[in-house]
Amino acid sequence: MEVGFLQFSPIFGKPDRNLEIIKEILRREKAPEVLVLPELALTGYTFRNPEEAYLLGEEIGGPLTQELISIASEYKIIMAVGFLEKEGKKLYNSSLLLRGDGIKGIYRKVHLFYREKEIFEPGDKGFPVFEVQGVKVGLLLCFDWIFPEAMRTLMVKGVDIILHSANLILPYYQAAAVTRAIENRVYIVLANRTGIEGRYGMRNEFTGGSEVVNPQGEVILKVGRRVEGLFSVNISPEDSRNKNITELNNLLEDRKVDQYEGWDNRQPR
Ligand code: ACM
Repeated sequence: MEVGFLQFSPIFGKPDRNLEIIKEILRREKAPEVLVLPELALTGYTFRNPEEAYLLGEEIGGPLTQELISIASEYKIIMAVGFLEKEGKKLYNSSLLLRGDGIKGIYRKVHLFYREKEIFEPGDKGFPVFEVQGVKVGLLLCFDWIFPEAMRTLMVKGVDIILHSANLILPYYQAAAVTRAIENRVYIVLANRTGIEGRYGMRNEFTGGSEVVNPQGEVILKVGRRVEGLFSVNISPEDSRNKNITELNNLLEDRKVDQYEGWDNRQPR
């Protein structure tokens, strides 16, 4: 299966222009079967306040969703795209899993980073797993990475590939993804954005470095901090299903859940 990411620098507040940039890249480069785009790929990231974000958000199924579905249809691909989701008065930092025949799945970011807490509600639907072409995929968004429970939850549910859309600002995850892939023995496709957003005294510089890591922790595709474009690689998703790390160690069976006392408690002991 070909998987890949589209790394670019979305223009703040211009969903239509960002859709054009995405289409332009897709016209130039061969699209993989599964393509991951960054977090908040159509709107940009650095919202001044919830009111500004609200004007840019969209209910699922609106015109931007339809545009994304028609892109997936034209190129016959599956896409995971970071999306500013509006539901009534609430905003979610979401990821949409799309195919030419419609929406396959939605994930709402559970772990909000820094001032995202002023804009979004935390995700309220857990970490769902979706099946596409016989492969189980899970969606994560950016800062979810720093809570190992997020990817572990998906791993325990049998996920083969993590489609991880990001707007990373801190410099850690590109290296830490290697550990996440090894400890869960899954593929990770990380689509990070690049560029700088400076607005109203806020300045965010994004760290690029999108990559694909295999279940052995090998980085099989990686780009630089400022590169823009679409990059893909061939993978064997079934490699994620073998959780044996030695003949005598299986990452699922060897978990000692009865010994992990307190790990799910809010208060540290
Ligand atoms: C982030 O979670 N966008 C840093």
